[in-house]
Amino acid sequence: MTSRQDEPAPDRPGFSRRSFIKSIGASATASTLTGIATSQAGLLGRESEATPLLGPGTVPLEFNINGKAEKVRVEPSTTLAQVLRYSLGMTGTKVICDRGACGGCSVIADGKLINSCMTLAADMQGAKITTIEGLAQGSKLDPVQESFLRHDALQCGYCTPGFIVATRVLLNDIPKPTLAQIKKALSGNICRCGTYTNIFNAALEASGQPVIMDQKGAV
Ligand code: FES
Ligand code: FES
Repeated sequence: MTSRQDEPAPDRPGFSRRSFIKSIGASATASTLTGIATSQAGLLGRESEATPLLGPGTVPLEFNINGKAEKVRVEPSTTLAQVLRYSLGMTGTKVICDRGACGGCSVIADGKLINSCMTLAADMQGAKITTIEGLAQGSKLDPVQESFLRHDALQCGYCTPGFIVATRVLLNDIPKPTLAQIKKALSGNICRCGTYTNIFNAALEASGQPVIMDQKGAV
């Protein structure tokens, strides 16, 4: 039996409330995906590239992650953090808030710091991504990692990969930042264990500057 809402309107063959709702849903989803992709592309200065509509099935994507070409096939709604952790097994990148508020999922994309939980993997097609796993050169840790170790700049350690990646980006941009610049650059990262004093000291030392805060945070 056909329900009333599925009956085609007499003057518009083939039209029904169901097909109307479906078409709105499809176009709204497409607009949302396009909008998100466009805003992320803008963050990375890739506005000039046309963003094709993708999905609803899985799509092939390719990135350069930590110097290695990686291919995955995922749904267009998959975030970069999900690809890193679940498709590629790179669990160093943490997902804590999953809404762009804590910086735990920080990675470097084409030289810029991004929250991978808020970034569609499809928008990173062709990007050069560096994760916490890619900072060390073989067994030699990045100076920022060494400094975090020396200053015991962690407690539970869950926020640590994000802080280290964010500090690496800061030092790439400003080799000798002031304490104020360090605090500002790391303000998107949250440490619920409150190890900020040691984190700031680690950042200062990694940039070749004297540590200027004691364990109580006094300058
Ligand atoms: S997990 Fe991405 S910002 Fe918190
Ligand atoms: S060390 Fe536990 S959240 Fe930062």
